[in-house]
Amino acid sequence: MEITRVGIVGCGQMGAGIAEVAAKSGFSVIVHEINQTLLQKGLSRIEKSLAKAVEKGKLEESAKASTLKKIKGVTGLDDLADCEIIIEAITEKIEAKTEVFGYLDKIAPKTTIFASNTSSCSIIEMGAATGRADRFCGLHFFNPAPVMKLVEVIKTVATSDETFDIAKDFAAKMGKVIVTCNDSPGFVVNRLLVPYLLDAVRALEAGVATKEEIDNGMKLGCGHPMGPLELTDFIGLDTVYYIGEILFNEFKDHHYASPPLLKAMVKAGYLGKKAGRGFYGYNK
Ligand code: 3HC
Repeated sequence: MEITRVGIVGCGQMGAGIAEVAAKSGFSVIVHEINQTLLQKGLSRIEKSLAKAVEKGKLEESAKASTLKKIKGVTGLDDLADCEIIIEAITEKIEAKTEVFGYLDKIAPKTTIFASNTSSCSIIEMGAATGRADRFCGLHFFNPAPVMKLVEVIKTVATSDETFDIAKDFAAKMGKVIVTCNDSPGFVVNRLLVPYLLDAVRALEAGVATKEEIDNGMKLGCGHPMGPLELTDFIGLDTVYYIGEILFNEFKDHHYASPPLLKAMVKAGYLGKKAGRGFYGYNK
């Protein structure tokens, strides 16, 4: 099966990034948001990112225009019915994801492949909510999707070899480096990254050092591009919190438990860069 049309559900931070990468790689993209306001916000996020790529000398102005032409924004899920692959990139709530896939299962041809960009939800739980668990896999992109080279391609106990091969080929056509893994909570990267981020919050909470010192320690001592608290702001405190909760519920290991400070900040709405305030302040 040749993939030419890609459907993306969700045009937030990740959905917009995936739409940009897919369109830049020549695929026709239909991206869905629940209303016009969120859709316009998502599409302008893509436009800004492409403008930045042009400014950084990574993209020709003409390629920016042709990429934008390949992206169509919609607010009805039925408009995704003609796509050969549909990638879900909505909120990290399993109920919301299974509801979307349950609906898509009714409107898309049986051949359409479904993929979730989930960070930590169970792929098989979503697959089982459809009648096509064999054509269901995980495609986990990293933020910012246009810049980060990795995609985790995730196989469940039910994913067929054919689906897995098509998904790997699709990610490679988007210029990504692939890590394949099984459907285990957090896959490879978040299983290692999230406890590290939570430990950094615990270190701050315990007064081990200031946020700047913690971040500089990891940036300058280990060569990370961002310190852990800066990275938590970048990913979103709510996202890190939700992933931690999912991993904790699955493994019952205190390493994955969110520290009270993180929970308090999420409750206060200090969600990081996207909210203008997290561990650091940002001009929105
Ligand atoms: N399109 C293409 N390339 C772009 C671009 C765009 N829209 N915007 C920037 N770039 C390129 C730049 O040209 C530059 O390339 P170069 O290194 O070859 O010169 C590179 O990307 C870096 O861009 P900038 O110089 O503008 O920005 P910084 O140097 O400040 O880097 C960053 C920004 C890439 C975000 C870097 O800080 C970083 O790598 N941070 C860590 C990000 C990370 O860990 N992400 C993973 C999060 S975990 C996740 O997503 C999983 C989820 O499930 C939680």
